[in-house]
Amino acid sequence: MKFIEIGIKRMQARFFHVQLALIVGALLLSPVSNAGNHTSGSQSTEAARKQKMERFINDLLKRMTLEEKIGQMNQVGGTFANTGPINPLSDQGKEMREGKIGSVLNLAGVDGIRKIQKVAVEETRLHIPLIFGLDVIHGMKTIFPIPLGEAASWDLSAMERSARIAAIEASAMGVNWTFAPMLDIARDTRWGRIAEGAGEDTYLGVQIAKARVKGFQGDDLSKNNTIAACAKHYAAYGAAIAGRDYNAVDMSEITLRDTYLPPFKAAVDAGAATFMSSFNTLNGVPATANEFLLRKVLKGEWNFNGFVVSDAGAVGELIPHGLAADGIEAARAAANAGLDMDMGSNQFLQNLPDLVRKGLVPEKVIDDAVRRILRIKYELGLFQDPYRYCDEQREKTELLTPEHVAAARDMARKSIVLLKNDYHLLPLKKSIGTLAVIGAMADSQGDMIGCWGGGGDAKDAVSILQGIRSAVSSQTKVLYAKGCEIEANAPEDFTPALDIARQADVVVMTLGESGGMTGEAHSRANINIPGNQEALLKEVIKLGKPVIVLLTNGRPLTISWVADNVPSIVETWFLGSQAGNAIADVLFGDYNPSGKLPVSFPRVLGQVPLCYNELNTGRPLAEHPGDFFRSRYNDVSNDALFPFGFGLSYTTFEYSNLRLSQNVLTKDGKLQVSVDVKNTGYRSGEELVQLYIRDYYASVCQPTRLLKGFKKLAIEPGQTKTVTLTLTPEDLKYHNSKMEWTVEPGKFGVFVGGNSQNTLNEEFVLK
Ligand code: BGC
Repeated sequence: MKFIEIGIKRMQARFFHVQLALIVGALLLSPVSNAGNHTSGSQSTEAARKQKMERFINDLLKRMTLEEKIGQMNQVGGTFANTGPINPLSDQGKEMREGKIGSVLNLAGVDGIRKIQKVAVEETRLHIPLIFGLDVIHGMKTIFPIPLGEAASWDLSAMERSARIAAIEASAMGVNWTFAPMLDIARDTRWGRIAEGAGEDTYLGVQIAKARVKGFQGDDLSKNNTIAACAKHYAAYGAAIAGRDYNAVDMSEITLRDTYLPPFKAAVDAGAATFMSSFNTLNGVPATANEFLLRKVLKGEWNFNGFVVSDAGAVGELIPHGLAADGIEAARAAANAGLDMDMGSNQFLQNLPDLVRKGLVPEKVIDDAVRRILRIKYELGLFQDPYRYCDEQREKTELLTPEHVAAARDMARKSIVLLKNDYHLLPLKKSIGTLAVIGAMADSQGDMIGCWGGGGDAKDAVSILQGIRSAVSSQTKVLYAKGCEIEANAPEDFTPALDIARQADVVVMTLGESGGMTGEAHSRANINIPGNQEALLKEVIKLGKPVIVLLTNGRPLTISWVADNVPSIVETWFLGSQAGNAIADVLFGDYNPSGKLPVSFPRVLGQVPLCYNELNTGRPLAEHPGDFFRSRYNDVSNDALFPFGFGLSYTTFEYSNLRLSQNVLTKDGKLQVSVDVKNTGYRSGEELVQLYIRDYYASVCQPTRLLKGFKKLAIEPGQTKTVTLTLTPEDLKYHNSKMEWTVEPGKFGVFVGGNSQNTLNEEFVLK
C-alpha cells in the first residue's frame, strides 16, 4: 500500500512518549455520541448535538494560537497520486508536529494514514486529528464508469450506490474525504473534464448531485464507512472559454444562477460537507478569491456551514492570474473572500499570520474558517476516534468484494448507450461462428478505468476482449488484432486487422480515445476519432462484413462518418472494472441497453459548444424559410448528430396520448402530465421517459426546451404503461434581471418523449 512518507522516520522516534489515553481524554471535552447528518431522532436531539459540537469547537478555538489556527487551513500533498503543481514543503514532518497542517491529500492505505494521524494526535500541542482527502471520483478499488458514463444511466439510485461503494472502499483504506462529486455543467466537448461530470443539463445535474452526495456521506457522517463529499469545482469551470482547461469564464449572472449553480445549491441542500473552489476566473475574478461566489452566494444565500478548500495550488495561482502581486496578496485575497483551506500552495501558512497581525485579514475570518474545518472533523467523528477510518480488518475484507464487483457490472451496463442498430444486427448470438475484435482499446484493461481511477488496478479490470471471450460459446472463434494505435502520426499497417476481418462473420471494432485522453488538462482542439482509426474502419467496411463499433471516449466525439456508414454503434465511455463483461452483456443480449445521452453529440466541431436547451432567437430555424431569417450554419444542420436524451433499445417504444390534468395551472397548483408508452418490439426493455417544458414568453427569454422530469419504466413486449409526472410552479422558475427566482404567468409548452427532440407536446397556461 502506498502512503505518504513525509518525515515518518523522524516522527516515529517521538511517537510513543505520549500517553494516548491522556491526550484523548483532554481532547474529548465532550465526546460525540452520535455525530453526523441524522435523519432519525428528534429535532431537539439534533439541535442539542449541534450545540454541543459548537461548544466543543469554541472551546478548542480559544486554546489555539494564531499559527495553530492557520495550520488547520493548510493542506499538504502526500504521494498516493499526483495531480498538479503542489509546492513541495521542505519539512512537512516538523510542520505537522507544530500543528501547521490540518489536512493531507493524495494518500491512501490504513498503515500510512494511521502513522500520520498518530503524529497529529500524539505529537501536536492540541492533538487535533487530520482529515485525509483523495479524488475518489468513480470508485476506489472497484471502479465504476466515469461519471459522464454513469450519468447516461439516469439511474439515481444506482449512482447513489456506486458513490456509497466508493465511500466504503475509500474509508476502508483510511480516506475520510473525497474530492467529489464534480458538478460542473459542461457543453463544450473539447474540455477534457466533461468526462468527470453529469453532462450538459442542469436538472439532471441537480438530481445526480444529490444522489452522489448522499451516496458518499450516507445518513451519518460519523460512521466509519461514510466520507465527507466535496462539491467541485465551484463555479462555472465547465464553461472555460474554447474548452481549454483552466481558461477564463465570462458569463451573465442569470446564466450562472440558472444553469451552472443549481447542482451546487442541491449539494448544499443534500448536506455536502465541503466545497472546492475552481481554477478559473469568473468575470475576471478567480473563483479562489471570489467573494461573490464564496461569501455572498455559498455562505450567505445558501447558508453553507462546511468549509471550502481551494483547488490544487490555486491560492498561489492568483499571482499568474494577475490578481495578486505576491503570495501575501494572494493569501489575503483568498482568505478575505471566504476560502477556508489552501490546497498545497503553502501561501496561507506562510502569509496569513502576518496578515492577521497587521490587521489586513481580520482574525474573525480565520476563526470562521477554522470553525468550519473543525466542524467537519467533528462530524466525521475524528475527535471521538481519530483512527475511525484506520481499520486494518476492513481494508482486508471490504475492497473489491463480489457484491461491489456485481454493482460495478450493473452500473456499467446501465451506462451503455445504443446509438444505432440497423437491421437488428445487435444483439449477437453467443454461438456466432467467428468474431473479429479489432481496435487499440479492445485488449486494454487499464484504459477501461478512465480518468481519475482512484486506487483502481488495471489487473482488476476486464477488457473488452476478455468480456467477449468469456461470453461466447465454446465453438465460437474470437480473433483479435489491435489494428492501429489510438494516436499515430504516420500510416500504419492494417494487414493483420484486415486478415482477421476477412475471416469473420461479424467485426467488432473499438474506436475512440484512450482512458487518459480526457480528464484534467486533457482538452482537445479536435474532437474527431484520433489517429488512423477511422482510416482503418474504412478499410474494414470495404470488406462488406457487418461491423459493430464500440466507442470508447470520455467526451462526445464527431463521428458523422461512422454514423453514416456503420450499422451498429454502441457508446461505452470508460466503464470501469467490469467494462468488458458489461459490454458483452449488451453485445450478446443478456442486457437490453437503456442508457440515454447526458450530452449532445455534435456533427462537426464548429457546432461546439452545443446543448439541447438553446434560446429560440428572433429568427428560429423551424419557422423561417429565407436564408437571412434563420439562425443556422450554411454548411451543416444545426441539430446534434445524436441529441441529449437519445438512446435506443433492442426493442421499440411508441408514445401516445399525452395529456395534462388541466390546461390551467394556478400558483399553488399541480399539473399531472401523463403519457402512454407501448413496447412495440419483441423484447422486454426499459424506456426513460423525459419531460421538458418551454416558457413561451418571459421577461428573460427562456430556452425552447428544459428538462423537468424523467422516469424509467420496464415494459414487456406488447404492454402499454402510463407514466405520470408532476409539474408545479416551482419547476417553472428562473432568475429575472433583478436576480429574483420567479415565474411569470403565461403560456407554457410541455414536451414528453424518449429524447429531447422527438416528443409529443401540449400546452398550458400559468395563472
Ligand atoms: C483538480 C481537482 C482535484 C485536485 C486534487 C486538481 O488538480 O482540479 O479536481 O480534486 O487536483 O487532486
